[in-house]
Amino acid sequence: MGIPYRLTSKHIAAGLALVLTTAAAGQAGADPASERRLESGKQLAMARDKGNCLACHAFDDGELPGNVGPPLMYMQQRFPDQAALYDQIWDATARNPDTMMPPFGKHGILTEEEIGLIVEYLHSL
Ligand code: HEC
Repeated sequence: MGIPYRLTSKHIAAGLALVLTTAAAGQAGADPASERRLESGKQLAMARDKGNCLACHAFDDGELPGNVGPPLMYMQQRFPDQAALYDQIWDATARNPDTMMPPFGKHGILTEEEIGLIVEYLHSL
C-alpha cells in the first residue's frame, strides 16, 4: 500500500502547487495595462491637486483620511453599474444638491478620462 500512497500525495502536492500558482497570477492581475490604469486611478484619487478624495473619504491604504464622506469600499457590490459611480463623481449635486462633495466633472476639476480611471480603480476596492 506504500506505493499508491506516495503517488497520491505527490499528485495532491502537484495539484496544490498549480492552484496556488494560478491564484497568485490572478491576484497580480494578468494584464499589465489594466494594472497601470488602476495605479493611475489611485494616483488621481489620492493626489491633493486632483481628486483629493482622501480629504473626505477613507479608502485603500490612504493615510490620514477625512470622514466627511463614507468609506469607499466594497464598491463593486454597492455600485454594480460603473455609470452610477461615474455620475456620482462627475456631479454629486445631481443626487444631493446639498452635498459637500465637489462636482468634479461639471466644474472641470477632473477630465472625463481622469474620472474614468478613478471609477475603474474604485471598482477594484
Ligand atoms: C469635501 C468632501 C468630499 C470630497 C473631496 C469627495 N467626496 Fe465623495 N462624498 C462626500 C460626501 C459628504 C458623500 C455622501 C453623499 C452625499 O453627500 O450626497 C460622498 C459620497 C461619495 C460616493 C458615494 C458613496 C456611497 O456610499 O454612496 C462616492 C462613490 C464618492 N463620494 C466618491 C468620491 C471620489 C472618487 C472623490 C474624489 C474624486 C470624492 N468622493 C471626493 C464628500 C466628499
